[in-house]
Amino acid sequence: MGVTKTFYIETFGCQMNAHDSEKVVGTLVSEGYRQVSTVEEAGLVLYNTCSIRDKAEQKVFNRLADYKKLEKQGKKFGVLGCVAQQEGDKIFERAPYVSMVCGSASYRNLPAMLVQLEAGNRRVTGLDDRQTDACFETECTARTNPHRGYITIIEGCDKFCAYCVVPYTRGKERSRTAESVLREARQMADSGFTDVQLLGQNVNSYRDPSGKMSFAELLTAVGEVNGIRRVRFTTSHPRDFTPDIVAAIDAVPALCDHVHLPVQSGSTRVLGAMAREYSREEYLERVAWVRSAKRPISMTTDTIVGFPGETEEDFEQTLSLLDEVGFDAVFAFKFSPRPNTPAISLQDSIPEEEKSRRLQMLMDRQREIQRSRYARHVGQIMEAAVEGFNSQRGQVIGRSTQNKTVNFTTPHPIRPAPGSYLPVRITQSFPNSLVGEAVS
Ligand code: SAH
Ligand code: SF4
Ligand code: F3S
Repeated sequence: MGVTKTFYIETFGCQMNAHDSEKVVGTLVSEGYRQVSTVEEAGLVLYNTCSIRDKAEQKVFNRLADYKKLEKQGKKFGVLGCVAQQEGDKIFERAPYVSMVCGSASYRNLPAMLVQLEAGNRRVTGLDDRQTDACFETECTARTNPHRGYITIIEGCDKFCAYCVVPYTRGKERSRTAESVLREARQMADSGFTDVQLLGQNVNSYRDPSGKMSFAELLTAVGEVNGIRRVRFTTSHPRDFTPDIVAAIDAVPALCDHVHLPVQSGSTRVLGAMAREYSREEYLERVAWVRSAKRPISMTTDTIVGFPGETEEDFEQTLSLLDEVGFDAVFAFKFSPRPNTPAISLQDSIPEEEKSRRLQMLMDRQREIQRSRYARHVGQIMEAAVEGFNSQRGQVIGRSTQNKTVNFTTPHPIRPAPGSYLPVRITQSFPNSLVGEAVS
């Protein structure tokens, strides 16, 4: 009888990586491996990595260093994802106990790579040229949540923002046919999924290779799949964001009241230096489209502080943009110079303490904005999708269509099941969550 092969996988980075890991797990399980929850139990240890900022990359190498002594126990280590694609073979020099390096476009070759690994090959690589490999269609995807799941609609990125590694780690934009996206959505609905999230670095750059549907039409079609109650999409680039996306949200009940539209900076000058290809005014025009919808669509964004040459005035413009838009969440980052990107040759001119000061100011300002935005929900009744239960607080954990956390109590002793939907009356608000009680 063969010994059961075991693996442990840890995932860093964005939702694309989280979903890739589901594909990797599905592939390994179909190859006879069993997933375990600790490094200690595993024969094969995999890190699905992110290199968006220096800290993310450092985390991976620190983690590998923590465990290198375990190699002596016969464990094998593999590095997957964006650091793998970025660093390639160099990882074997930097972390000699690693014996597999595999980028995201090569996951379909994993079965063959595992055979090589088992045969004792110490340097197994899968670093495909990703121009041609669309890698959407995976036979085996081990979805971690039985109600809510991702669907990749577009891979890669052609935008080449001056600060960003993604075009180098994920390759050129490749869209998937609308037909294949819809097939996956229907299959998911048939197996009990009610909530799907369409994924891509730029979902609204989607171009159906069969020419049948625009992005807004695809959104509509997914939203109309029988059994699907909630559809989100991430991420949108302001340059490709069009009014028909807002019209689709207005028209199709299953599309969520939420748009994530990363702005990066409120200063047109900095946006130019970042090669974002829109101005502050053009961004605000898109916000106006969203705000003119019949539905109360919440907006969230990403910002970078301390981009090379960002003056105090530029930064003030980012703060004033936050006031002007009223986002419901902001993910703010300090600029981090990344390999291969144009911004690496600019002088990283803002000292670390100054970046920290700007980041803190921005987060403080946004906290106050959110405090008042969340407070507007008190007294409203909203639908919460049940995600879990917090036994310490005795509260059900839910999520609103606007993507806000809603913690609530129920009048019945029976806990509502994850994946169910309940109307909740909001009684209290915080800057990052709402509290309420289910109404029967
Ligand atoms: N495709 C998405 C972004 C993906 S990366 C988009 O275009 O909006 C997620 C966020 O990380 C970006 O929006 C940006 O705010 C941040 N980011 C990317 N590169 C960065 C860098 N070099 N330093 C700091 N933040 C960065
Ligand atoms: Fe990076 Fe810009 Fe592409 Fe987003 S659009 S992934 S920030 S290059
Ligand atoms: Fe990180 Fe790669 Fe995503 S760099 S943010 S895991 S695309």
